[in-house]
Amino acid sequence: DGTDPGELRTPIVAVLGHVDHGKTTLLDKIRGSAVTEGEAGAITQHIGATAVPLDVISDLSGRLVDPDDFDLPGLLFIDTPGHHSFSTLRSRGGALADIAILVVDVNDGFQPQTLEAIDILKRTQTPFVVAANKVDTVPGWNPQPDTPIQGSIEAQSDRAESDLNDRLYEIIGQMSDHGFSSDMYWRVQDFRNNIGVVPCSAMTGEGVPDLLAVMMGLSQRYMKEEMSIDTSGPGAGTVLEVKEEQGFGTTIDVVLYDGTVREDDHIVVGGMNEPIVTDVRALLQPRPLAEIRTESRFETVDEVVAAAGIKIAAPGLDDAMAGAPVRVVRDRGEASVIEAVEAELAQFEVETAEEGVVVKADTLGSLEAIADALADAEVPIVRAEVGDVAPRDIAVADTANESRHETILAFNVDVLPDAERRAEETGVSLFEDDVIYQLVEEYEEYVAEIER
Ligand code: GTP
Ligand code: MG
Repeated sequence: DGTDPGELRTPIVAVLGHVDHGKTTLLDKIRGSAVTEGEAGAITQHIGATAVPLDVISDLSGRLVDPDDFDLPGLLFIDTPGHHSFSTLRSRGGALADIAILVVDVNDGFQPQTLEAIDILKRTQTPFVVAANKVDTVPGWNPQPDTPIQGSIEAQSDRAESDLNDRLYEIIGQMSDHGFSSDMYWRVQDFRNNIGVVPCSAMTGEGVPDLLAVMMGLSQRYMKEEMSIDTSGPGAGTVLEVKEEQGFGTTIDVVLYDGTVREDDHIVVGGMNEPIVTDVRALLQPRPLAEIRTESRFETVDEVVAAAGIKIAAPGLDDAMAGAPVRVVRDRGEASVIEAVEAELAQFEVETAEEGVVVKADTLGSLEAIADALADAEVPIVRAEVGDVAPRDIAVADTANESRHETILAFNVDVLPDAERRAEETGVSLFEDDVIYQLVEEYEEYVAEIER
């Protein structure tokens, strides 16, 4: 409708769901189909993300996406490994992802990490669709590779079709139990009020054209305004992971959602103790798609434009925190950018009490999610921090007056050997889990037991 496509940034799509439900296979399918179609070069592999341009989406979707109907440049898919909590994906206190695909295995239905993802989608009000994956595992399924799902369903026996429907209605029922009304996507009129369910197979590719079409439609209809940004402005992003990289020291994997980052840019990154002010030494991108399996090999680039995933090498990143903001300092001046980063970090501050449990988590987002869950359970927190469980955490827990507070709740972090030993010596209880509500449940069961 006359808008210059160059002015709109690529929507960020998070792919989430329970372990093994098929998130990575789905993205592999999209990448693999592009290779088959001879469009491998058009798809770019980013750090933790894959950018698929509009014309490739159109080709992969059969006739479901007409490029003339769209002016968004494509989609940037972010894979979230099962162990990597979706709650990291935050920006400016909201969701980092503009939209999401919740992958649910049709045989397995809702599982703990599905529920966790649903909670966060609800809390951050992120629009999403459900990919009801692995339809090819329905007994007697007759695969129709890479085709739209309705045609594929028509090619099935009555038995297989009704078997699939039972599973899909099971998922729709579970959605309803969690406060979402949903239906098969082709019956959905307004995707904001009714969540679309897309039956698909990441293995055979059936239903994948539909998924791409639904994601494009959803972005185009509801996201256009948010996608109108000044991509040449100073970059803003979120740290996904802090990683040691051979030859580069400590690096940060970042999803850039606004503006541009250039080599030598002056940046501010949220740190454990204070904002880190440093200069970009190198911007690293994975090698092109053809070499995707050699993930350890990077290419340096001069500049990245949002939306993108990028690894940033810079001095002094040891204390950078996963989930923290990254901002480029350009014309606004360093002091005001530091202030902006501090203000963003302040949104994560957990309310602590004089007496309570100690919480350690892998990212700011997960820390906040646990704090919310504990607040709901009326469990006070004395200290909440990102990082591994260290001896000083045991020391803090050990000073609690009540034994139910002599406790550490650790989410997705390591327990340092010294800390483990001190916990045993002092009788501090340590709970570890990588599913938030299970962590809280384990703790509640423990309290019920000691107070019996
Ligand atoms: P995590 O990253 O560990 O959370 O798992 P994931 O969600 O990325 O799952 P992944 O893609 O690794 O798939 C897990 C297993 O399911 C693999 O063995 C896949 O081959 C298989 N799988 C994924 N999608 C399908 C599908 O549509 N059909 C069938 N039959 N198998 C599938
Ligand atoms: Mg995976």
